[in-house]
Amino acid sequence: MSELRVFWLRVVWAISLLLVAVDCQSTHPTEVTALRVIKESIDPENSLSNWGPGDPCASNWTGVLCFNTTKDDNYLHVRELLLLNLNLSGTLSPALAQLSYMEILDVMWNQITGSIPKEIGDLKSLILLLLNGNQLTGSLPEEIGYLPNLDRIQIDQNYISGPIPRSFANLTQAMHFHMNNNSLSGPIPPELSRLPLLVHLLLDNNNLSGPLPPELSEMPRLRILQLDNNHFDGIIPPSYGNMLQLLKLSLRNCTLQGPIPDLSRIPNLAYIDLSNNNLNGSIPAMNLSDDITTIDLSRNQLTGTIPPSFSGLPNLQRLYLFNNSLNGSVPSTIWQNRALNSTVQLTLDMQNNNISGVSGGLILPQYVNLSLQGNPVCSNGSLQGNASMPAFCGSPMALISHLQSIPSNSTDNCPASCPSGYELAPGSPTPCFCAAPLFIGYRLKSPGFSDFPAYFYSFEVYLTSGLTIKQFQLDLNYEWEKGPRLRMYLKIFPEFMGPGTDTNVFNRSEVLRIRNLFTQWAIPDSEIFGPYELLNFTLLGPYEAIDPRPSSSSGISKGAVAGIVIGAILGAVLLSAFASLYILRLHRKKYHAISKRRRVSRASLKIEGVKSFTYEEMKRATDNFDVGSEVGQGGYGKVYKGILTNGTVVAIKRAQEGSLQGEKEFLTEIELLSRLHHRNLVSLLGFCDEEGEQMLVYEFMSNGTLRDHLSEKYKESLSFSMRLRIALGSAKGILYLHSEADPPIFHRDIKATNILLDSKLISKVADFGLSRLAPVADMEGVVPGHVSTVVKGTPGYLDPEYFLTHKLTDKSDVYSLGVVFLELLTGMHPITHGKNIVREVNIAYRSGMIFSVIDAKMGSYPSECVEKFVTLALKCCKEDTDERPSMAEIVRELENIRHMMPESDSQTSDYIVTKLGKNVSPDQSSSSTTKNPYVSSDISGSDLVSGVVPSITPR
Ligand SMILES: *[C@@H]1O[C@H](CO)[C@@H](O)[C@H](O)[C@H]1NC(C)=O
Ligand SMILES: *[C@@H]1O[C@H](CO)[C@@H](O)[C@H](O)[C@H]1NC(C)=O
Ligand SMILES: *[C@@H]1O[C@H](CO)[C@@H](O)[C@H](O)[C@H]1NC(C)=O
Ligand SMILES: *[C@@H]1O[C@H](CO)[C@@H](O)[C@H](O)[C@H]1NC(C)=O
Repeated sequence: MSELRVFWLRVVWAISLLLVAVDCQSTHPTEVTALRVIKESIDPENSLSNWGPGDPCASNWTGVLCFNTTKDDNYLHVRELLLLNLNLSGTLSPALAQLSYMEILDVMWNQITGSIPKEIGDLKSLILLLLNGNQLTGSLPEEIGYLPNLDRIQIDQNYISGPIPRSFANLTQAMHFHMNNNSLSGPIPPELSRLPLLVHLLLDNNNLSGPLPPELSEMPRLRILQLDNNHFDGIIPPSYGNMLQLLKLSLRNCTLQGPIPDLSRIPNLAYIDLSNNNLNGSIPAMNLSDDITTIDLSRNQLTGTIPPSFSGLPNLQRLYLFNNSLNGSVPSTIWQNRALNSTVQLTLDMQNNNISGVSGGLILPQYVNLSLQGNPVCSNGSLQGNASMPAFCGSPMALISHLQSIPSNSTDNCPASCPSGYELAPGSPTPCFCAAPLFIGYRLKSPGFSDFPAYFYSFEVYLTSGLTIKQFQLDLNYEWEKGPRLRMYLKIFPEFMGPGTDTNVFNRSEVLRIRNLFTQWAIPDSEIFGPYELLNFTLLGPYEAIDPRPSSSSGISKGAVAGIVIGAILGAVLLSAFASLYILRLHRKKYHAISKRRRVSRASLKIEGVKSFTYEEMKRATDNFDVGSEVGQGGYGKVYKGILTNGTVVAIKRAQEGSLQGEKEFLTEIELLSRLHHRNLVSLLGFCDEEGEQMLVYEFMSNGTLRDHLSEKYKESLSFSMRLRIALGSAKGILYLHSEADPPIFHRDIKATNILLDSKLISKVADFGLSRLAPVADMEGVVPGHVSTVVKGTPGYLDPEYFLTHKLTDKSDVYSLGVVFLELLTGMHPITHGKNIVREVNIAYRSGMIFSVIDAKMGSYPSECVEKFVTLALKCCKEDTDERPSMAEIVRELENIRHMMPESDSQTSDYIVTKLGKNVSPDQSSSSTTKNPYVSSDISGSDLVSGVVPSITPR
């Protein structure tokens, strides 16, 4: 038993260490003094009233966040000063330099004056320097350029003058320079081009001058270059056409001259603003990226004609060419070729040029605003008698910016109002749910679009997945501000967790988690939305009392130390008890061969959001895995319908011999699945890993698979609008997997039997069994184009490109989904008697016979919508992956089609209640080739009244 003795020695040693550590849990005296000096200088109003006699790290000083363990010197050290929006004035003290381990200095949105102390250059660990929204003056100290770990400088909205120091070129870790809205002068140092990681360079609204350095094009990662409202000399360097990562180029009102450079080579350029300069020459005929949303070349001296290359840009929202000297005519192909996105507003402002006509069709779709006032075309009578003329030539509508909100479910019909501090959660699936929201001021500093409604949905997905909350928990209002920047007022509501639970308030740790994600910029930057900033995160109502310091920054008072010591001793006693048990078990193991695999898994599997079930519970839920509970058989094993003790109906996937995965794989799959939450994905509720069994427990989809609903089995069929809804839901679920899951996921086995329908016929994508982690981009870097894997998938749905090359891309899922769309439209199977659905529909389409293959069971339908849907489906199934739309484009186009539907058809009231065959015996259904793993055969075998499908929605 020498093992045991060694162990006890270790316990004693650990306790003594702990006691020593507890004894020294205080802040380094230098830092205590420094904090007092800082307060003295920054806080004349005494907003930091609790920065008193106690210890900064060990008692609760507002905004002082410390490392939770001591450093080598056995003292605690300040990690972060989080002092945003605290009504601080006064000046920044050089004593800040004494907080030598500090990583985040955040004093945003106060009224601090004076200059930035050069001593900040001593803070070698500093990662975020956040001084924006104050009244700082003086110049930028070159010492800031010596900070080896600095990721982000935000000094915007101050009165800082003088040059940008050349030393900033040494900031090799910097990704974000936000220095807009100051009085910086002098040239942009060409040396900045050495910054290897810089993604956002915002220097707009300063007094910068000199030439634009051509070298900036050498920055390998630059996404946003925003330099508006400065006084540069000379031209836009042609080299800027080589900034291949660029998304936004904004050089408005910069006194620039010369020609517009060719920007054709930039693959993802979304936003160009070169307005209000002295640019001349003609607009080059450049092939702009399909991602382009905004082109503003107004207020220059441009001549020549409007190039045809502005046509067919599918995401274009704004084309401003007014106040130039352009001639010729406006090609109507600018709006005619917008295959996708036909509901996004397109504003074409071409006033005050020499434009003499409009070529091509003169019929303006509703979503296009064209202004031609002040052109010969409006005065020379060539448009006389044309119905559209007043629309072209009248004075344009003023663009009014006012507070708008993202539409969400109505709460109009809710009876009582909520108590103070609480509001009806507008998006909540629980009707009339009163909850206490968090109020957050938020702003997109440099968005890549000009019309937000087109991006509502993706913004919701982006922000809620970044915060790991559900989409319906977010409510927002927004307005455009100068810049243009997009100001938002966010409300985040807690989620209703079931009756009897007190969940209409976030708990403290959730509040802090959400706040930290904002204050530490932990929500990844998105391309189109650009950098964001937090304006305020004020704790109101029931949250007012929350001590905003994270528990990790030891909030230990002196008085609590005694408690800790006692706790430590108690802990040690308990620990020793466990240790003895453990050692006993170790010894037992030699004699009783306990499955090591099983124990390891029980110990390590604690995954948030999913429940670990015992084998007993699974046995009980399925009546000892009775044949009667069996609802299907997949490649993985049998699927059972189960009823948990709390009454929840679930689908249980039980791995069969040979499907048992290694411990790691099983764990990986569960971890992966547990992180995915989307209305259109089947959610994992739990798992069981015991007795040599592996089972996955899912929410039960009472309406079975899409394939079943398309087959003859169902007497009543889905209407076209239902089919469209199912398609849209599926596409959204997959879009989430592709773009919002972290890391992104390719499904790899999308098919009609993997699209399930819940009690409300909402489609949910199932079975990520074949999912592989998609290639991951480093923070903001380049994603490898594909992952090479062994070909898996189902015949008929398999992307031919993937089959040939083994290169799996997001477009492989697009192909499979396209096949599902064709099934939805035609009712056919992907392969029947050797005929392939894609080929068959293509043949019908090319010969103009498309309606001959449309599923007759779906009744009447608006033919133009069906046509658009077929076109989309076939586009998804293009041989060439590049010709296929992206999942986001699919979602947009389906939304468009849905908006085109006649009003009554697009309402939710037209669900066709599906009927299950009355007399299908379990035997019959088990012989069916399309047997659905989630639909209970005991539903079809029972004496259910035809037309009534049990509504089972777990959770
Ligand atoms: C923290 O501050 C609050 C008020 O600011 C005070 O009531 C509380 O006693 C303090 N806690 C500690 C541990 O100092
Ligand atoms: C910073 O860059 C300058 C040149 O701009 C160079 O002379 C200096 O040595 C660099 N300093 C550090 C600390 O890297
Ligand atoms: C153009 O920029 C200058 C500063 O460079 C500013 O004073 C002026 O107001 C700007 N003009 C417009 C129209 O924004
Ligand atoms: C201490 O902080 C680190 C992050 O800095 C965190 O990962 C860890 O969980 C914290 N430990 C405790 C005991 O809070």
